[in-house]
Amino acid sequence: MISLKIEPRGRPIRNLPSSIEIDLATCTTESLYTRLSATTGLSRDRLRLTKGSDGSVISVKKDSGKDVMVEELGLLKDSKIFAKDLGPQIGWRTVFQIEYIGPIIMHPLALLYLRPYLYSNSPLNPLSHIPYFPTTDVIPPATTVQKVLCILTTLHFVKREFETTFVHRFSANTMPFNYVFRNSAHYWLLSGLLMALFLYTPAPTTAGSWWPSSLRAENNPAVLYGGIALWVFAQLSNFATHMTLRSLRPEGSTKRAIPTGYGFDTVTCPNYSFEVLGWLAVWLISGGNWSVGLFIAVGGVTMAKWAMKKERRYRKEFGSAYKKKKVMIPWIL
Ligand SMILES: NC(=O)c1ccc[n+]([C@@H]2O[C@H](COP(=O)([O-])OP(=O)(O)OC[C@H]3O[C@@H](n4cnc5c(N)ncnc54)[C@H](OP(=O)(O)O)[C@@H]3O)[C@@H](O)[C@H]2O)c1
Repeated sequence: MISLKIEPRGRPIRNLPSSIEIDLATCTTESLYTRLSATTGLSRDRLRLTKGSDGSVISVKKDSGKDVMVEELGLLKDSKIFAKDLGPQIGWRTVFQIEYIGPIIMHPLALLYLRPYLYSNSPLNPLSHIPYFPTTDVIPPATTVQKVLCILTTLHFVKREFETTFVHRFSANTMPFNYVFRNSAHYWLLSGLLMALFLYTPAPTTAGSWWPSSLRAENNPAVLYGGIALWVFAQLSNFATHMTLRSLRPEGSTKRAIPTGYGFDTVTCPNYSFEVLGWLAVWLISGGNWSVGLFIAVGGVTMAKWAMKKERRYRKEFGSAYKKKKVMIPWIL
């Protein structure tokens, strides 16, 4: 048996013991977290333990999914551990599920029920006071292209809900609760509110779309059906890459490996490439609607930054076993 010293990092933690007795031969880091969670009354995921010697986080699972033993961390008698209260937490998966539910609700609601109110010329409609917002006296029924845009957008996010719930094997359990607002804003505001407001306008040819009439999906079946085909291809490809990522990690583990195969042999993050391609198809069908363009631009820049970071991480983690390549767009980026 040895004793480890414990100190709070950041704000004080009620009932945090100043030391803990453990059996070095049998104690796992998981049991360290569990015992401190029990004594402090804080949930297990709210606590982060770091080694006093080098500040590294005390993890509970190895890549293989096996438990980490305290002994393996090189902790000795009277070694110091810092405990940090991360604040209220929310499930990692739950945050994504909340993010995607916004557009799933907003698009059908706007198209099927809210058009008479959103685009009404009535002074009672606050949107009618916004300069250039396309309001009118008589609101025509939604066009076929608008219905297609609504179906594709909603289906995209239903797919993301499915993947979040059943396909992705995340390495983290929780994140701080207030992240849910920051993360959701991207989807609820850009792909939800803004796109729903500007895709279903009474005069779809003038509101936010600038393509010449002959190239618009309403008038050109090649654009409509070509766009739908491109969207289906991008969604299936994106799904295939997510299945590849899933297959790298045995259930319950946090293992990371180098993805190979469809898409991954060409770029580091083909899941991001196919994601952008799917939205470009929606943009094409929408006649270059600016609200879709804005969502693609913000999401695309974000994904490009993440892809570059992932590429650097692969090179650091796997060295020469990882073959350097473009991160998202073949030959370009
Ligand atoms: N439209 C937009 O603005 C936008 C923006 C971002 C993402 N997305 C969509 O959301 C999808 C998911 O995004 P993401 O950033 O979470 O993708 P990601 O980082 O590639 O991760 C997807 C899943 O695969 C796991 N994973 C990734 N690399 C792995 C590896 N080398 N070994 C083992 N497991 C690995 C991740 O685990 P960890 O939990 O360990 O990371 C996660 O569970 C994207 O593919 C895209 O379709 C859309």
